Amino acid sequence: MSAERIDKILSSQNIASRSEVKAMIKAGRITADGRTVKRPEEKLDPEAAEIMVDGKRISFNKYVYIMMNKPKGVLSASSDRHAKTVIDLLPEEMKRRELFPAGRLDKDTVGFILITDDGELAHKMLSPKSHVYKLYEVKCDRELNETDVKAFSQGITLGEISFLPAEMKIIDKDKALVEICEGKFHQIKKMFHAVGAEVIELKRLRIGQVFLDRDLSEGMSRYLTESELIDILSRKHGITDY
Ligand code: URA
Repeated sequence: MSAERIDKILSSQNIASRSEVKAMIKAGRITADGRTVKRPEEKLDPEAAEIMVDGKRISFNKYVYIMMNKPKGVLSASSDRHAKTVIDLLPEEMKRRELFPAGRLDKDTVGFILITDDGELAHKMLSPKSHVYKLYEVKCDRELNETDVKAFSQGITLGEISFLPAEMKIIDKDKALVEICEGKFHQIKKMFHAVGAEVIELKRLRIGQVFLDRDLSEGMSRYLTESELIDILSRKHGITDY
């Protein structure tokens, strides 16, 4: 791995913010290969250097995993010449090369999007074979009923496309929770369209067994915890309360 600034390394490992790292350096709390780090700009190879904070060795994770609450109007892409992307929304200290959104939410969809530089994890999370379920909250343009629930549970077909059986739970007249493990293009919108309803609002609430953090307002991001990183690939499913 190439050398990175020490403040960036420690903030990417969720140890402290870049301004906190500055204060820690000032207080002489950070060492690299046995000598005290003097400047936040100092560059180190995090895989090779022995970095310690208060005498404790930092174990370095190669990849980062970020939960974002995606707002409307933002593209699920790494870059775009015209529109703002989820990567543009990341705070500077979280930005690093190779980050991409694992999967797509439509421009008008909000909620949980995972941003990472770990291609293998993204593949596992997105492949229908992995059975990682995603939970969506849907508001549509008509009242929902048990016929819709049944149609979803039997598997929806729209023209040439067929979708695997999906659980739906009606939570209000025109609102439901729906859980799917595929990620076909506009899948939720197409499934509702197939039963004669149009989606008005769509929010992703959960990936695997990790819920969107209620404390993250739209546009905000935070690193996944270690246990969330395991739970994001969980095959467990079934609609539970948010
Ligand atoms: N299904 C959709 O139709 N749109 C999304 O953004 C996600 C799932």
